[in-house]
Amino acid sequence: SDYYALIPAAGSGARMGGELPKQYLDLAGKPMIYHALRRLAGSPRIRRVYVVISPEDAYWDDYDWREFAPRLSVLRCGGAARADSVRNGLAAMAEEVAENDWVLVHDAARPCLSAAQLERLLDEAGADPVGGLLAVPVADTLKRADAGRHVCTTEPREGLWQAQTPQMFRHAMLLQALHQVRDAVPTDEARAIEALGHRPLLVVADNSNFKVTYPRDLYLARLILENPDD
Ligand code: C5P
Repeated sequence: SDYYALIPAAGSGARMGGELPKQYLDLAGKPMIYHALRRLAGSPRIRRVYVVISPEDAYWDDYDWREFAPRLSVLRCGGAARADSVRNGLAAMAEEVAENDWVLVHDAARPCLSAAQLERLLDEAGADPVGGLLAVPVADTLKRADAGRHVCTTEPREGLWQAQTPQMFRHAMLLQALHQVRDAVPTDEARAIEALGHRPLLVVADNSNFKVTYPRDLYLARLILENPDD
């Protein structure tokens, strides 16, 4: 089977404040999504990268994407929630992508994915019948609190992981999974796969592949991009 990538980039980035959607904010002199694109389109193991933008997107055409041209397709079919954008993108990809091909779904807002992490995902999840995702073991102590923020209990963190992206599953299985969970919108692809009764593999990553969510995260992302470990 071949590997393809899909970057859902139809979010508004409300938590960042500001007018410009998060995926287009300046990061090290480029729109943020450039960095995820460069990593995925730069891998010789990935045949093509599909970017899903909103039909109302007014920014994509402001940039010159020609360096990725032969291996980049833009789909203007973003939806209301991330899962809708991914589902619409998968449906549009079906012309080129076979049922058993792998699709790596990756956030535009994770610009610091390293080449080594990507390789590990392709190797380990690609050897699993279901597929898998990058994840990191939870490092902080976890508290459960009431509405007044008083601690009820300390939750054991053994066996708890934070899910990242890319998340990699077979095209047909992922599309079926996302159709099935239509009413309970999942926040990641793995959740939908789990709802089918499958058990995705966690591939050990590290926190440099964090999701840029708040304005200060841009500083950290720039530092990591300027000091790559690969
Ligand atoms: O908002 P959040 O950080 O969870 O978004 C994760 C990714 O999903 C981003 O790349 C964002 O652009 C994308 N997204 C989307 N369609 C939506 C909402 C988010 O493609 N309706």
